[in-house]
Amino acid sequence: MSSFIPNPTAQAQTPASTEATRLAPALPTAEEVQERAEDVSEAAVQAASVIAAESDTASQRSGAFSNYGSDAGSRASTSLASSVRDYAFENGRRYHKFREGAYLFPNDEPEQDREDMKHAMAVSVMGDKLHFAPIQNPQQVIDLGTGTGIWAIEFADAYPSANVLGIDLSPIQPSWVPPNCRFVVDDAESEWLHPKDYFDFVHARHTAQAFKNYDMVLKRAYNHLKPGGWMECQEMHHLAQCDDGSMPDDYKLTGYLGYIQKGLAVLGPDLQAALKLADKLRATGFVNVEERVLKVPIGSWARNKTLKKIGLYFQAVLMDGLQGIALGPMCRGLGWSPEEVEVFLPSVREDLKNKSIHSYFTLHVIYGQKPA
Ligand SMILES: C[S@@+](CC[C@H](N)C(=O)[O-])C[C@H]1O[C@@H](n2cnc3c(N)ncnc32)[C@H](O)[C@@H]1O
Repeated sequence: MSSFIPNPTAQAQTPASTEATRLAPALPTAEEVQERAEDVSEAAVQAASVIAAESDTASQRSGAFSNYGSDAGSRASTSLASSVRDYAFENGRRYHKFREGAYLFPNDEPEQDREDMKHAMAVSVMGDKLHFAPIQNPQQVIDLGTGTGIWAIEFADAYPSANVLGIDLSPIQPSWVPPNCRFVVDDAESEWLHPKDYFDFVHARHTAQAFKNYDMVLKRAYNHLKPGGWMECQEMHHLAQCDDGSMPDDYKLTGYLGYIQKGLAVLGPDLQAALKLADKLRATGFVNVEERVLKVPIGSWARNKTLKKIGLYFQAVLMDGLQGIALGPMCRGLGWSPEEVEVFLPSVREDLKNKSIHSYFTLHVIYGQKPA
């Protein structure tokens, strides 16, 4: 009789289930889950204070990470009028056509991949959070300069009862989105056609290099927020910093950023707006304004695994972006030729790859509330 009872061990070894076992992702052990949780919380503490560097030997061993690359994904929007779906081309890169020339950086697929990597980096350094503002039960949410829409989509998934609207000059958002998320080509710096006192949450990330008149954007956000609603800005301070003296005085990234800042200033945006936003929010009338500053390492030099991953994302974001970031501000703003830009970039790349330089930027998360 016993030979007719199915033997679970034998069944688990049939070819199909063996294949399934081979394909199934291995579940992390309780120890691995605990280890990751500890690593993430240690990363949060270090990002807000001082990031411990890995020893040089260990840093060499982890060099495999430096080949990190990204796949391009196609994003075609199908719901927009053809005029706003046109593109402009310059120096081999693609730019937005609606309000042509307003935004100085490309919108092609390499740039979109970079923006998505920046998203992973920002969310990760914020401890896997999409925002810090203490919003409760948001109903109407707007993401200004939404880019690929990745933040808006994840926010819509996280808050299924909210209506999330992403606006951008470029129609580069995917068509398959959560039912509570939609995208519109629109200019955040033009008059907002939404009712006054309408939004519960206004979000803007990585827009310092985008908005020419941030004061005006904050004013509009304030007017269109409900009393008690929140505004949150997540912006990089584009300055290479270092806590352990390993960054040389002639760090090429610093020189590069200086040119970008000057070029942008000629054309309008303030690359270092992050440092002024808390005061600007207060001056606009927002209350309960808070600012949290997080260090984002460049490269794999951090000892903590989460910060090492964040550093690798950021290194790739900068490496992949050097040319696209430079062309607009340096050619249109400072009159360089594209060839002069190309000749300038290799030395910046070299410094970015140098693991003995422990540099970082800071991400500033600033939020405030419209008085209730
Ligand atoms: C650096 S990207 C950031 C994208 C997105 N916020 C993110 O963090 O993933 C800046 C975006 O702002 C958009 N942008 C620039 N000026 C704008 C404006 N006046 N109104 C709406 N979008 C704008 C650009 O087209 C670009 O997609």
